[in-house]
Amino acid sequence: MSNKATLNLDGKSFEFDIVTGSEDEKCVDISSLRSETGYITMDPGFGNTGSCFSSITYVDGTNGILQYRGYPIEEVAEKASFVEIAYLVLYGELPNEEQLREFSAGLKEHAPLHTNLEHHFSGFPKSAPPMAILSAMLNLVSCFHPEVLEVTSAGAEFERTATLLMSKVRTIAAFAYRMAAGKPINHPNPHLGYCGNFLHMMFSDPYQEYQVSPVVEKALNLFLILHADHEQNCSTSTVRVVGSSRANLFSSVAAGVCALWGPLHGGANAAVIAMLEDIRVSGKKPEHCIERAKDKNDPFRLMGFGHRVYKNFDPRSIILKKQVHKLLAELNIEDNLLDLALELEEATLKDDYFISRNLYPNVDFYSGILLRAIGIPLNMYSVMFAIGRMPGWIANWKELLDHKQRISRPRQIYTGKTKRPYVTLMER
Ligand code: CMC
Repeated sequence: MSNKATLNLDGKSFEFDIVTGSEDEKCVDISSLRSETGYITMDPGFGNTGSCFSSITYVDGTNGILQYRGYPIEEVAEKASFVEIAYLVLYGELPNEEQLREFSAGLKEHAPLHTNLEHHFSGFPKSAPPMAILSAMLNLVSCFHPEVLEVTSAGAEFERTATLLMSKVRTIAAFAYRMAAGKPINHPNPHLGYCGNFLHMMFSDPYQEYQVSPVVEKALNLFLILHADHEQNCSTSTVRVVGSSRANLFSSVAAGVCALWGPLHGGANAAVIAMLEDIRVSGKKPEHCIERAKDKNDPFRLMGFGHRVYKNFDPRSIILKKQVHKLLAELNIEDNLLDLALELEEATLKDDYFISRNLYPNVDFYSGILLRAIGIPLNMYSVMFAIGRMPGWIANWKELLDHKQRISRPRQIYTGKTKRPYVTLMER
């Protein structure tokens, strides 16, 4: 088979390399297209455009496969800790005992925030969305650690900065919630692990330390693993675009938080719960939502359904669905939103609209029910996604710099007015 693709344009023939990835994915390398032909490609939303070579995460959307550095999501979700997976995503290999000990020690060391940084939380209005606080505070952290602004993608300084960021995001998230809820902040407890410490900072009270339930801790651990990376999604691409200007790691991931916020991306987990609540309160049948989602004159979409890459079940939604059943049983919780979600999923799987467009539940469909069960408030759901996605964002920023990738600068086809003379105000 030829390893070249031929393009015929304006009576001339051009050849471009065909590149094959390690899982046999194929692409036509058109990086010289414009200089050779004068043409550009048009691909709004980048559905057919590879923006980088990456060895972090592999997704096969046709077969519902997700692997972190080669490890199947099903295996890591069952057996690993989030801290191990964060290390794997960041550095390419699972840590040995000593590496894990050192990484965990770094996460503990960097958990507290500078006292002056803590004061900034009280400047936000009570109604401030935690995603806005998170994004702002991530940039602010770098002001208190100016050395991190100079960090490159390799060496001990990078490792220290990556650990600092992984740790601080969790403290900022918990403090944002406490401030918004009008509750005093809980400082990190160095005796607790990554997930346990987050739960403590969220839920301990001055007179009653939160007893970290192993069941809840395990569920949170799983949630974070499932969100650790997902190749070139909207927020990760944003991190790469921002980082490609050689912006520092903190401002790059702060931009990632903003991209994640939208309801078509990380905001979908909260939107699913809002949608299910709406069905419950209104007493309407789930089919009502399905009909609205199918109506092209209605902007409503079935939240937690569909995916740019998966044209099959999102493997994360399968894991989450099982975990949600298990968690509710273990915590002895009955949540009728789960019944509604199951009803909705069942109805879509029989509906031609969803079948013909390969629309299946994505990671956000069941994750909100899990977060609800462990007591996370609705406005924190996307923040939880951001905590989970942090290793992926950092790893992609690192890879971008390691590969010395060019600045991201897409082209366009101009459709505005052609050249015309300026008209003075008097003449208009
Ligand atoms: N409800 C109803 N119709 C849908 C939905 C949905 N949730 N998703 C896609 N479609 C239809 C869409 O209208 C289009 O129909 P047609 O061909 O008749 O025009 C077709 O399916 C293809 O959709 P698309 O908009 O071209 O697909 P996309 O790849 O651009 O968008 C998506 C992907 C995830 C933004 C979209 O499926 C969606 O809006 N889903 C709901 C929001 C959601 O759950 N987002 C979380 C995504 S997964 C985790 C993450 O990345 O954060």
